[in-house]
Amino acid sequence: MTNLTQQQVLSVHHWTDTLFSFTTTRDPAFRFENGQFAMIGLEVDGKPLLRAYSVVSPNYDETLEFLSIKVPNGPLTSRLQHLAVGDNIVVGKKATGTLLLANVRPGRNLYLFSTGTGLAPFMSLIRDPETFERYERVVLAHGCRQAGELAYKDQITEEFPVNEYFGELLSERLIYHPTVTREPFRNRGRITDLVRSGTLFADIGLPSISAEHDRAMLCGSPAFIADMRNILEGLGMAEGNNASPGDYVVEKAFAEKT
Ligand code: A2P
Repeated sequence: MTNLTQQQVLSVHHWTDTLFSFTTTRDPAFRFENGQFAMIGLEVDGKPLLRAYSVVSPNYDETLEFLSIKVPNGPLTSRLQHLAVGDNIVVGKKATGTLLLANVRPGRNLYLFSTGTGLAPFMSLIRDPETFERYERVVLAHGCRQAGELAYKDQITEEFPVNEYFGELLSERLIYHPTVTREPFRNRGRITDLVRSGTLFADIGLPSISAEHDRAMLCGSPAFIADMRNILEGLGMAEGNNASPGDYVVEKAFAEKT
């Protein structure tokens, strides 16, 4: 397959029974922008079985990282969850996607709203100094059912702020707001409800989101995206894409499919 490369698994981390992440080698010729996704997968019976996965790692890293749920009978993830160090995966040569800084107009604050594995592209974007250079505050809201599903929470709060390259900017400008819906946690409730009620803004100490000043990126389940889209459109925000920048941009958390 000329449009795919073989890459070797370097590490695997299981966050919960249903959520895991892994790192792989990177083809030096594979280029992507922070926030994009690639087709990745396994060769099954000699044929590539591929799904779209947002790249978790920033585009200056030598390795690639991906975050995935495990769907019990999912054709790909039921196999992918057994990945071990040294195994090979296939990675498409092209990356694409709409969650790009270039697709969002300048503004005061940038909101990154995610549920589940929808966090993935934002992990890449919050390690890009340009994200912080463009906005006064970058708010990363991540909603999950259980606290254990708040992947990368410790890296975001402990490791990233002391990172040599982007740590200072991230410390000054990133507001990380994890929230949990189905068990006790310091922040509770669906992101949509927290935005509608204004609880989110009260908790983080920022004015309510507005079309005039603020911009947003959405990544998560289809239901979450549909509801958030309604909220943002209701505020008068216009969707952007690769053809014309807007007030907000959207991507499904593809890995949820299978
Ligand atoms: P809830 O527990 O109330 O369903 P999932 O694992 O189903 O993708 O959900 C991940 C997180 O997204 C959960 O906290 C879930 O809340 C939340 N969620 C699911 N659907 C929506 C929606 N339509 N709007 C906002 N949050 C949602």
